[in-house]
Amino acid sequence: MEKKRLYITTPIYYPSGNPHIGHAYCTTLADVIARDRRMRHYETYFLTGTDEHGQKIEKNARLAGLSPLEYVDNMVAVFKKLWEALKISNDDFIRTTQERHVECVQKVFSNLYKNDDIYLGKYEGWYCTPCESFWTETQVGPEHICPDCGRPVEKSTEECFFFKTKKYLNKVLSWYEDPKSVYPESRKNEMVNTFIKPGLEDLCVSRTSFKWGVPLKEGENHISYVWLDALVNYISALGYGTDHDELYQKFWASEETEIIHLIGADITRFHTIYWPEFLTSIGARLPDRVFVHGLLMMKDGKMSKSKGNVVSPYPLIERYGVDAVRYYLVREVVFGQDGQFTPEQFVERINADLVNNLGNLVSRTVSMVDKYFGGKIPEFKSDINEFDHELEIMTNNTINSYVEKMNNLEVTEAYIDVMNLLGRANKYIEESTPWVLAKDENKKENLESVMSHLARVIFVGSKLLEPILVDKSKEIFIQLGLNELETDFDNLSNVNLLNNHQVNKTGVLFPRLDVAKEVEYIKNLMGGNK
Ligand code: ME8
Ligand code: MG
Repeated sequence: MEKKRLYITTPIYYPSGNPHIGHAYCTTLADVIARDRRMRHYETYFLTGTDEHGQKIEKNARLAGLSPLEYVDNMVAVFKKLWEALKISNDDFIRTTQERHVECVQKVFSNLYKNDDIYLGKYEGWYCTPCESFWTETQVGPEHICPDCGRPVEKSTEECFFFKTKKYLNKVLSWYEDPKSVYPESRKNEMVNTFIKPGLEDLCVSRTSFKWGVPLKEGENHISYVWLDALVNYISALGYGTDHDELYQKFWASEETEIIHLIGADITRFHTIYWPEFLTSIGARLPDRVFVHGLLMMKDGKMSKSKGNVVSPYPLIERYGVDAVRYYLVREVVFGQDGQFTPEQFVERINADLVNNLGNLVSRTVSMVDKYFGGKIPEFKSDINEFDHELEIMTNNTINSYVEKMNNLEVTEAYIDVMNLLGRANKYIEESTPWVLAKDENKKENLESVMSHLARVIFVGSKLLEPILVDKSKEIFIQLGLNELETDFDNLSNVNLLNNHQVNKTGVLFPRLDVAKEVEYIKNLMGGNK
């Protein structure tokens, strides 16, 4: 059964440094998925937020001479400002320092405890503060290096509560049998081979050696391990465990809702082993999909402040517009694979797809409708010209493939199909030579058909692109003389929608970028780092 309701989440980011284009990548993809589903009339709830507790934040605040809360308040404002600039349409923003969240973590912890899934013990091992992760002697190796990030770990010994990770492992493994539960499959295999098969150790879920966290009722001086705290965000934001849990009932508890967590590979273990176990312990259902997206890297590897290769999204948005940046992020990095940011590819992608393919098609078509028909889009008729049929079939196929691919989260592939349709329409102009048809009175019907076919492709293409091109699609609808009601997704199959609409010629949608000049500009933004 296809589910007509969606709950989609991003990781809640650590506000311990400025957001970079990698964070923008994940949040933009989630936003495109959320906007796509809303456009297709799904009831949709989209959550993002910030993960504000833990040793790293406590340390950073101290270094900045601020209290932890002052520190995170400042940083969270920076994240929120970026999401506004990127036009992220989240329904809520959860902060782990909010009371609603703190109370929920305490509740979840108490439930795990009551279920006898937690016991008091002693932790001896290694801790990576940047990753907020515990490791065993064998995992850190003789050099005592974090297996995730490669940085040195610190020896840690303290009393803490442990979660019994083996108790619900069977449930996790049977969840893995659904091919959609963890994607890509390689990530699931990695979990089985690296963590589950060698024997999963119980997870330390409380700390006593520092203070910045959610205090636990079950033990004096114990605060929640930041990862338990963080994962709970996905249900605390919905009001789990409160007497006003309507959102939880609707968007989590209900099997009618598709639950998708979008994450990067660095945090797969927490989302695909411990999170399903915690949920099982408290009697909650498991998410439908944990989708592990790839990383956006720089030429010289992962973005990092120490390498000085971090790209800030702001100046890009300012100079090229929010739609161009959003489009680049969706199109350039195949969803589920790693991708690389280079200034050259950024500029060329915008020129090729948005300036040439989309922009040209719209401006040529609107100009011709103006010139040949006084701005009035002719009535749609099928199969007048040799290439009409093929274009019409391709248009309908693109709508169907878009829906199917977006449902499967093949986001990049869905948009490659849309761009191919626009490319086909540009070729159709060359094949049907409207400027020749216009010279012959007997060819009026042929010319009308070319214009109406082009107008239809433009509507279909710009509608399907609307989840990405949040501003420019609307400009295109206006150019086609469509009002907001008419642009409803369900009208995509109506070939007569545009009949007799008056086009409105407006300015250039996407100005052509001078490659050399813009590449230079972006390289300078990156601190001269090539
Ligand atoms: O791990 N390319 O937060 P975090 C693409 N607070 N995505 C990237 C990226 C890149 N170069 N760099 C980061 C945490 N990301 C925890 C999460 S969730 C309950 C708690 C994205 O600030 C990617 O999605 O380190 C990655 O998983 C996430 O940011 C990590 O963000
Ligand atoms: Mg991280």
